[in-house]
Amino acid sequence: MFQTLDVPPVDPILGLIAAFRNDPSPDKVDLGVGVYRDERGLTTVLEAVKAAEQRLLTEQDSKTYLGPTGNERFNEAIGTLVLGAKHAALRDERVRTIQAPGGCGALRIGAELIKKANPTTPIVVSDPTWANHVPLLSSAGIQLQRYPYYDKATGAVQFDRMTNALDALPAGTVVLLHGACHNPTGADLSQQQWQQIAELLNRRGLVPFVDLAYQGLGDGLDEDAYGARILAEKLPEVLISVSCSKNFGLYRERVGALIVVGQTRQHADAAAANLGKIARGIYSMPPDHGAAVVARILEDTKLAIQWRRELTKMRERIGALRKTLTEALSLACPDRDFSQIVAQRGMFSMLDLTSELVDRLRQEKHIYMPGDGRINISGLREQRVDYVAWAVAEQFGSRHA
Ligand code: LMR
Repeated sequence: MFQTLDVPPVDPILGLIAAFRNDPSPDKVDLGVGVYRDERGLTTVLEAVKAAEQRLLTEQDSKTYLGPTGNERFNEAIGTLVLGAKHAALRDERVRTIQAPGGCGALRIGAELIKKANPTTPIVVSDPTWANHVPLLSSAGIQLQRYPYYDKATGAVQFDRMTNALDALPAGTVVLLHGACHNPTGADLSQQQWQQIAELLNRRGLVPFVDLAYQGLGDGLDEDAYGARILAEKLPEVLISVSCSKNFGLYRERVGALIVVGQTRQHADAAAANLGKIARGIYSMPPDHGAAVVARILEDTKLAIQWRRELTKMRERIGALRKTLTEALSLACPDRDFSQIVAQRGMFSMLDLTSELVDRLRQEKHIYMPGDGRINISGLREQRVDYVAWAVAEQFGSRHA
């Protein structure tokens, strides 16, 4: 049977993990997969996570099943973290949260729910979008289309082109929006633009599906949830996929959630019940450990404060690196403008490189990034910034390099 199978291409992001590991060069720099790295280049377990795990070890008295919707304490805490305790949709009991295996699991069950509710609805995604959105959403049997988003020339959002394209979509179309820290570009909507998007989607009868994978790594926990919150306030139906991989550093534990806001409590209940069925039919139940850790952190004032401090440190380090990189690139390559890197948010920015130049950077300079030129800013260590900047400038063919 297996002789019928072709070997698929290596994953454009995860494939870099092994490629980097196998490179023996002492010069190598990993700007590939989106994991936070500290100044030593390490992705350590957060102190708040360690403390919560210690507690879990002594307090947990059973490992029995929890069911397809996962850990209820986690679900409640995440709904509040994302929407804010006083959100009108929570007050009106129109919100249901179900735990999922990572943000990926949440996106997938969200797509399955959409397919079940309306089998012909397409999902429109930003151009560009996170590479894994395409297989995750289309594997549910949904047709994907794209809307213009990123302006290479300015490094910002092409807001007029984006809104013109959304305005022309048929009612009922699902619009995937990155809640904050756009992956792969780092180009985010301003609060005013989110308000305009909420008004447009509402007027046109479009359904927002917000991917919130980096809450707290852009401008702050509340600031990064602004878009999700305003959509949940102004629109009758919203889906929000949440990941705790980056902001809690729980990557391999696969902690995520899907939040659904329904027009009425009954609609929300129906959506949640269907999500439970969908989960049961794919993976049965999500893993508990990471979700139990997150619940303990968010329920405990001391642990929550500790976690917020650690998250702030990550965010501030990324912000400082953005400045250092911009300065270094501007020096190495004075004929180009890099100011957009400071204006962008989250882990990523995108260098204006072709896939050939990305390959050359890897082969000649041992600098790793996906083929679209996305860089994980946190993968830069202070002492390696100049090396990267001059190597990139060389690829741009700058006469100053
Ligand atoms: C990334 O974008 O690099 C991360 O979200 C890891 C992944 O699964 O692609």
